[in-house]
Amino acid sequence: MTQQHQFDALIVGAGGAGLMAALHASKSANVAVISKLYPTRSHTGTAQGGIAAALANMEEDHWEWHMFDTIKGGDYLVDQDAAEILARDAIDAVIELEHMGLPFDRTPDGRIEQRRFGGHTAENGKRPVMRACKSADRTGHMILQTLYQQCVKQKVNFFDEFFVVDLIIQDHVCRGVIAVEIDSGELHVFHAKAVLLASGGFGRMFRVTSNAHSLTGDPVASAYRRGVPLEDLEFFQFHPTGMYKLGILLSEAARGEGGVFLNDKGERFMERYAPTMKDLASRDVCSRCIYLEVRDGRGIGGKDYVYIDIRPETINKYKSAPGGKEVTAEELEKKLPDIIEMMRVYQGVDPMKQPVPIQPTAHYAMGGVPTDNAGWVRADAGAGMVTGLAAAGECACVSVHGANRLGTNSLVDLVVFGRRGGRAVAEFIQHADFAPLPKDPEAEVAAELERLRNQTGREKAGRLRKEMQDVMMDNVGVFREEKMMQTAVDKVRELKSRYAQVQIDDKGRRFNTDLLEAFELGCLLDLAEATAVSALARKESRGAHSRDDFQARDDANWLKHSFITYTGAPTASTTANDQTALTYRPVVITKFEPKERKY
Ligand code: FUM
Repeated sequence: MTQQHQFDALIVGAGGAGLMAALHASKSANVAVISKLYPTRSHTGTAQGGIAAALANMEEDHWEWHMFDTIKGGDYLVDQDAAEILARDAIDAVIELEHMGLPFDRTPDGRIEQRRFGGHTAENGKRPVMRACKSADRTGHMILQTLYQQCVKQKVNFFDEFFVVDLIIQDHVCRGVIAVEIDSGELHVFHAKAVLLASGGFGRMFRVTSNAHSLTGDPVASAYRRGVPLEDLEFFQFHPTGMYKLGILLSEAARGEGGVFLNDKGERFMERYAPTMKDLASRDVCSRCIYLEVRDGRGIGGKDYVYIDIRPETINKYKSAPGGKEVTAEELEKKLPDIIEMMRVYQGVDPMKQPVPIQPTAHYAMGGVPTDNAGWVRADAGAGMVTGLAAAGECACVSVHGANRLGTNSLVDLVVFGRRGGRAVAEFIQHADFAPLPKDPEAEVAAELERLRNQTGREKAGRLRKEMQDVMMDNVGVFREEKMMQTAVDKVRELKSRYAQVQIDDKGRRFNTDLLEAFELGCLLDLAEATAVSALARKESRGAHSRDDFQARDDANWLKHSFITYTGAPTASTTANDQTALTYRPVVITKFEPKERKY
């Protein structure tokens, strides 16, 4: 039997954005957090290197420089009013985390210690600056644990291991969500005045990714199926240092502490491409340079990877540590304990003695559910809004990362816009009523789950997932061109047709991960189609969207955000093929006119 619940507000997702929103909303409202994972297993816990804030604890820094770097890093597709909020509020948000008890690393005189990161500079691009506040290379883990403890202290309601399978949206008003309780397999209807989505990214559409298995974008796909547009999906960031073949993240902090890229000739090739920032150029730039080295035959042993070298003797040879200081293995082990351990365990390489094989890994969706600066979701590329629906963190597009996010700005985004979203929701519910629920709101998604459970077709979800990940990786990856992206669109649509024939083996109800993984695949297929269609349409190169057939950035025609909408009838299942429409919204420019990016 379906169970019913009523809360003032629901937060979908228990990572950094969700917990920060819950913490602030629940100060004055009855809030529930619904998460398909136990909260401290959320993907925020894997964020490694740091959270940017212009605290100026190590050297001169200003939030205006942080704002500029965010805009330049995003290749000027960033909404500058949002970037200003991000850079200004980062300072206060980090202090708030500190006051909650987050164990940041400390300078000898007790202030929060900071390190360098890609694309973060002093004086608008003149030299790298130490801006990333950190807890060794476990910063996300510490943020997640701290926020969860605070939520428990504040008695926030948690529905752990509840999988949101549909949003209840009618007439542009969000009224709640439908979730499966994973343990029992029962459906639950959650009725609320406001819903805030904070479900993270959807990098699992790619073969090599740093994203956890759970990052399949289910609530984002549900919103899309219910008519909410998705913004700037063509911009998907590839982090340059994924472990070769595994995709697991090796933090950019490795380069912040002095690590360098080397090709097969032992050359520090970033000196050629980015003479000022070198190995600390922004991620889209580094990923492209790795790809070019490989393409031109300078991958290691002619293969598709290069090295990151963090051996003390290499760092000291290039004087690449902050301030050109000498480093020792002992210091590096203290600053980068987790990634050094991971390289030893997962790759069998001792990074204090050998260089480590890496390749770009699908890391971060710059696009997502479009929101205004308070976190409320847009209904279209104009002034339309979805009442009662907010979003924050990676699943949202404010847009503060534009065409390419700077390292450490995801954690800033989580806490700054999670907090704003939580506050906006708290204020909204003071004067909002519960919008009535439609009759049997769970009926449609219940039917879809039963279809998946009982379907007797020949297709297997694992097979379709692999084909999707391959076609997306090979055709909508670091470099793109018309034919490749069209191949991806066609293939994903073929996979969506075959998805109708997916048969699962587990027909049971309790903890049926077979069923839920098949459902997740349907969500990924919708998002993959929307990503490839948005990418195909953008005829320029900008940030993470780099086309061989349109190599220049084209501000005259493309300085605008894409909004893709599903044009079929609202649905709880995978969308019909070829039912998309693209519209565009101007970028907000306040202080910095677009310029050519130089590193
Ligand atoms: O490289 C890293 O530590 C990742 C940070 C980020 O994605 O912001």
